[in-house]
Amino acid sequence: MDRPKLLAQLTLEEKISLLAGQNFWETKSIDRLSIPSAKVSDGPNGVRGAQFSGGVKAACFPSSTALAATWDVDLARRVGAALAEEAHTKGAVCVLAPTVCLHRSPLGGRNFESWSEDPFLTGKLASAYIRGLQEQGVGATIKHFAGNEQETKRTTINVNIGERALRELYLKPFEIAVREAQPWALMTSYNLVNGEHADGNRFLLDTVLRQQWGYDGLVMSDWGGTNSTVESLNAGLDLEMPGPGRHRAEDKVKSQIESGAVGMSTIDARVESVLKFLERTGKFDRPETSPEQAINKPEHQRLIRDGGAQGIVLLKNEKDILPLDAKKLKSVAAVGLAKECLASGGGSAGVNSHYKVIPFEALEASLGPDVELRYGQGGHLFRNLPDWEDDVSNLEGRPGFTLSRYESQDCSGAPESITTIKTGSYMPMGARCGSISLECIYKPSVSGSHYLGFSSLGQSKVYVDDQVVFNITEDCDDAMGFLFGGVEEARAQFSFSQGKEYRVRVESFSPAVNPSSGILGGLLGVHFGFMHQQVFEEDLFTAAVDAARSADVALVFVGNTPSWETEGRDLTSMTLPVDGSQDRLISAVAAVNKNVIVIINTGNPIAMPWLDDVCAVIQAWFPGQEAGNSIVDVLLGKVNPGGKLPMTIPKSLSDTPAYKNFPGDVEKLQVYYEEGVEIGYRFYDKHPEKALFPFGFGLSYSKFEIRNVNLDSKALKQGGSITITAEVHNLGPRAGSEVVQVYVAPPAGSVDRPVKTLAGFAKVTVESGESAQAEVKVAFDAVSYWSEKQSMWAVYKGVYKAIIGTSAVDIVESLEFEVEKDVTYKP
Ligand code: BGC
Repeated sequence: MDRPKLLAQLTLEEKISLLAGQNFWETKSIDRLSIPSAKVSDGPNGVRGAQFSGGVKAACFPSSTALAATWDVDLARRVGAALAEEAHTKGAVCVLAPTVCLHRSPLGGRNFESWSEDPFLTGKLASAYIRGLQEQGVGATIKHFAGNEQETKRTTINVNIGERALRELYLKPFEIAVREAQPWALMTSYNLVNGEHADGNRFLLDTVLRQQWGYDGLVMSDWGGTNSTVESLNAGLDLEMPGPGRHRAEDKVKSQIESGAVGMSTIDARVESVLKFLERTGKFDRPETSPEQAINKPEHQRLIRDGGAQGIVLLKNEKDILPLDAKKLKSVAAVGLAKECLASGGGSAGVNSHYKVIPFEALEASLGPDVELRYGQGGHLFRNLPDWEDDVSNLEGRPGFTLSRYESQDCSGAPESITTIKTGSYMPMGARCGSISLECIYKPSVSGSHYLGFSSLGQSKVYVDDQVVFNITEDCDDAMGFLFGGVEEARAQFSFSQGKEYRVRVESFSPAVNPSSGILGGLLGVHFGFMHQQVFEEDLFTAAVDAARSADVALVFVGNTPSWETEGRDLTSMTLPVDGSQDRLISAVAAVNKNVIVIINTGNPIAMPWLDDVCAVIQAWFPGQEAGNSIVDVLLGKVNPGGKLPMTIPKSLSDTPAYKNFPGDVEKLQVYYEEGVEIGYRFYDKHPEKALFPFGFGLSYSKFEIRNVNLDSKALKQGGSITITAEVHNLGPRAGSEVVQVYVAPPAGSVDRPVKTLAGFAKVTVESGESAQAEVKVAFDAVSYWSEKQSMWAVYKGVYKAIIGTSAVDIVESLEFEVEKDVTYKP
């Protein structure tokens, strides 16, 4: 394809049309010139396809924190390659991933989707993942550039970050990946960075990304995250997504060209990026977009099961209670979330998994018939009641609710359409209308004061017969949170008699458009949940504790379901939902059973008030559709755990570096990253008493010793590197892996710097009784810091230390090397 020639053939109108999507997921095609459209799809732990929920089935891979915990670059690359195959099955040529924003606080709702608190680990793993995708001909979209470390007010918050923290931390993973893996696309964040929306931020998109890093790929906005016509075009945002363009409507762009605010060369540069993207994704050669298919591949199943297990971090293993020996067990209790497969967090990362393996089933299969396996749920964990579906019929007597859509704002006049929907929840993403009514006849199968839960985007009234049960008089101020099920519902009880018929009617009006609702502005949405009183009030807690009482071992599965840990909403505490009920379950089980093993399915660290009372703890993250198998493989020793924490687990929320500044001032819409460069272990190194488990930590069923650590040179020069080698001896009874971590500590100098920063790592697998060589290369930029005074990277001369360990605090050796002269260099 001759790009300049094609560019020259395009009319102005055609050029403008290429600068925004054709629809929700595709770029614009131009038949006259055979310009194809390209379909993109989320990302990152699967390729979901076009539908947000309930779409064509897809493979659900381990979430990024789980992958990060493997510290395994090759695995990240293999996952990327598998995702490329998945993308083909969904007709997509580009995946909206990886997410590389850092874990600034353990409350980040989307941390599960990104990798770590450390920019180096994040950058290296993300680069491998990108390579995996792109080697197979599918583009990666690194996101969200930049400063999207929180979900609260994500579309309107101004993130104030000093340039040093920006360069050393938050931009670093992007920089590493852009330089090492050249992602074909990059997505801007919704938020503002230092006063400018990311999509119109000339400093970020032009100065840093294109000029300093030499990025030559496509820059697209987050969905609804284009905030201007002129600024975004001039700053370097190529593509407004989704389409059709709001800020890039033809008349808007044309008038800005006519006024001289946007130059033709700028339009051409943006169009060129789009054409280059189409070329890279092979669309000119294969223009068709194939239909979505569900292809459940055995090799993906194996990769997911193994990857999920490799990411599991063994935090505690007293009395070597793990691995369990099925032959020695008569009874095992699996309580809590044992019958839930927490494959992924919530939001756009979620996929409709081909299948989900729950831990209980995996235990049944692995323990065999001779072990009695007991179960107790322990309590309900729903954030909102399940959508109402049972025992309801529409106005014609068929199952479901009658949905009437009105053009008017108050359900007056004749409806524009009448249909039936299955449940009492409704959110039409595309088709807007003024108001809706939802009606059903409810005939209770059992009498009781049943529970109703309701929330909506706009004002609503809910009637049972003639009684008003809910009267919602204000629009929801968190449309994104609502979309992902994270907004708290209003709850009520209503006394129903078995067999009687009740007429239920919901009236809901479209909300006013407000700045934080983005593309969801003005959209209607209702959630109507229901639960029988008998189910709601059943004493699940006592039953679970009883199940655990006399069992040989009690496995307590705890975690966050997708509505608790999700895009669109931050967590509000490190305490497990609901209000610590899972902590109470662990403590109660530990009071009746001496052999308690806790399995945690979360993307973020949680508070562990019961830690001293249990024998073992494993952090299993969100491991994907094989979650049950991955966990049970570790519990029974089929896999020797080798995962290492990609973030510090703090003792409590008040012990975290951004505690006072997360999520910032939500009234004034400002967050200040006052902790500067000290997040994660950069902070805990100076406050060790605040960490419960350090960065890089993880136990094994084997025992490793690191010996003969050597440096190949005592001097590090600009442009050069030093290499550290070490022998890893496996003194334990089984094969396993160890991660040799190399941190660099600067000499004292005029600038206050972190005690040490991660500069390299190597994961080695060693057979029992054998040893293997680990080799880690440390590059010159590992010793640099960002000098705000000079606006450059700076290195001061002196004696540095290469600190070799198996976590940020388990240090094996510290070797000196020297930088002979002060150096500054341009970014
Ligand atoms: C998310 C993006 C995602 C996009 C499309 C946005 O709300 O922030 O990460 O790729 O939606 O689903």
